[in-house]
Amino acid sequence: MFKQAYWNEPVIFQLGRKGRKGHIVPKVEEEIRQTIGNALADLPKEMLRQTLPELPELSEVEVVRHYMRLSQMNYGVDLGFYPLGSCTMKYNPKLNEFLANMASLTALHPYQDESTVQGILKILYTLAKWLGEITGTHEVCLQPAAGAQGEFLGALIMRAHHKFNGNIQKKTELIVPDSAHGTNPASGTMAGFKIVVVPSNQEGCVDLEALKSAVSEHTAGLMLTNPNTLGVFEKDIEEIADIVHEAGGLLYYDGANLNAILGKVRPGDMGFDIVHINIHKTFGTPHGGGGPGAGPVGVSKELEKYLPVPRIVFDGKRYYLDHNKPQSIGKIRGFYGNVAVLLRAYAYILSLGAEGLEEAAEVSVLNANYLLKKLSSIRGFELPFAKGRPRKHECVFSLKKLYRETGVRALNVAKRMLDYGVHAPTTYFPQIVEEALMIEPTESFEKEELDRFADMNEVKASHPKTMALSWRMHQKKSTRKHKQ
Ligand SMILES: Cc1ncc(COP(=O)(O)O)c(C=O)c1O
Repeated sequence: MFKQAYWNEPVIFQLGRKGRKGHIVPKVEEEIRQTIGNALADLPKEMLRQTLPELPELSEVEVVRHYMRLSQMNYGVDLGFYPLGSCTMKYNPKLNEFLANMASLTALHPYQDESTVQGILKILYTLAKWLGEITGTHEVCLQPAAGAQGEFLGALIMRAHHKFNGNIQKKTELIVPDSAHGTNPASGTMAGFKIVVVPSNQEGCVDLEALKSAVSEHTAGLMLTNPNTLGVFEKDIEEIADIVHEAGGLLYYDGANLNAILGKVRPGDMGFDIVHINIHKTFGTPHGGGGPGAGPVGVSKELEKYLPVPRIVFDGKRYYLDHNKPQSIGKIRGFYGNVAVLLRAYAYILSLGAEGLEEAAEVSVLNANYLLKKLSSIRGFELPFAKGRPRKHECVFSLKKLYRETGVRALNVAKRMLDYGVHAPTTYFPQIVEEALMIEPTESFEKEELDRFADMNEVKASHPKTMALSWRMHQKKSTRKHKQ
C-alpha cells in the first residue's frame, strides 16, 4: 500500500519570529540595500507605503524545511502514474526547467526597451511560427494564459469577424457538442453568444443530422475538440466544417487533445479557422492544481487582423512590437503572455524536433489503447460509445454497472487508487458518460507502469463485492480519523 508523508504543517505566516532572517553575506546585503534605496528614491513619495506589509520572518533553514514538508505531501508526475484524462499530465523534462530558469531570461523585464530584449523576442517569434506550423494556422498570438482564455479570445475574434462583415446582430449563436469541456460554453457565453448544444451519436461523434438542424443564419460558429473528450476522432470533420462554413459560421478548435495528433494531422487542414493550444498539456510544462498555463491562439489568414496587440514582428534585421493593428480586438493579457511557460514549450519542441513530436503522439495513442484493451476485460468497466473502435490518447469508461450492482461509484474507485500510489483519473467528465472514469496515460509512462495500473484495477474489480466492502471499510477508517 502506498504511503505518503503526512506533516501537520502550518501556513508560513504561523511560522518564524519577528526579526528572524536568512543568512546573507554582509557585503551583498549592503549592495541590495543600496539598490533598493536607489529604486525607492526614484519613486514619487505619495506612492510609497507608510506601513510595511506583515511578511513572515523566517530563517533559511525554516523556509527549506517548510517547503520540503509540503513537497513531500504533494503528488506529481515525478512521483508516479498520473492518468488524469484531458489534462495530459506528461513528464516535464528537467532540461526545459534548466533553460527556462537561466538568469539571462528570468532577469528580463517586460518594460525593457525592445533593443535590449532581442533574444527573448526572437524565441517568442520563433515559437509562434512553430505553433503555426504544427496547427496549420497562419498567425499565432501567445498572450492567453490558459486554454479557457484562448477560447474566450477565439469567441471574441468570432464576434469581431461577424461585426466587420456587418452581421453581428444576426450571428448570435455558438454551437457546442454535448461532450465539450465546460469552459467551451462558459467562454462563448462570456463573449455574448447564446449556446446551442448538439448531441453525440452512438459513435461518440457529433450527430451530423442534429448539427444540420442546429445551424442557421444565427450560427456564429462551432467549438469542437478533436479527438473529442471521449478520445474518439471526429471522422466527419470535413463535412462538419462544410456545414458550419456554409451557414456563414467559423470553426473553433479546442486544442486540449492536440497531443494525440501532433505531426499527424493539423486542425488548420481539417477546416478549423481558430485554434487554441494548451501549451501546458501538449508541450510538457508543469501544471496541475490550476496553473500555470498558456493558451496561444492561431488563426487563418482572413482572421489575422483581429488578433491581440502587440505583435512581435521581424523586419529582417530586428524584432519589434507592432501595436498598429486597427482591427485588433485589443489585449487579452499583459505583455507577451506567460513567458516562463512558453519558454519551456520552446525548449520541448526544440529538443524533440518534428519526428520526436510525432513519436510522442504515437506512443500516447498506443498507451491509451493498451490500457483500453486491458481494462475493458474488467468486470464493471464498460466502454460507452464507439464500441470496438480504437481511441486516440485517452479512453473513458462507464462504471454505471459496477455502481448498480455494488453501490461503488466511479468516485470511490478513483479515491481508492490513491491508496495504491496512483493519481486518480478524471471522473464524471464528459458528462454524457454515467459514472465516468477518464484515463489518459500519456506517452511518458512505461509498459510496466501501465501493467501495474491495469492489474491493480483487476484485483479490486474482479470481486466487486470485496471491493465494495473494502471501500466501505476504508471510508469508515477515514471518517474515524477525521473525528479524532
Ligand atoms: C477539453 C478541454 N477543453 C478546454 C480546457 C480548458 O483548458 P485550461 O485548463 O488550460 O483553461 C480543458 C482543461 O482541462 C479541457 O480538458
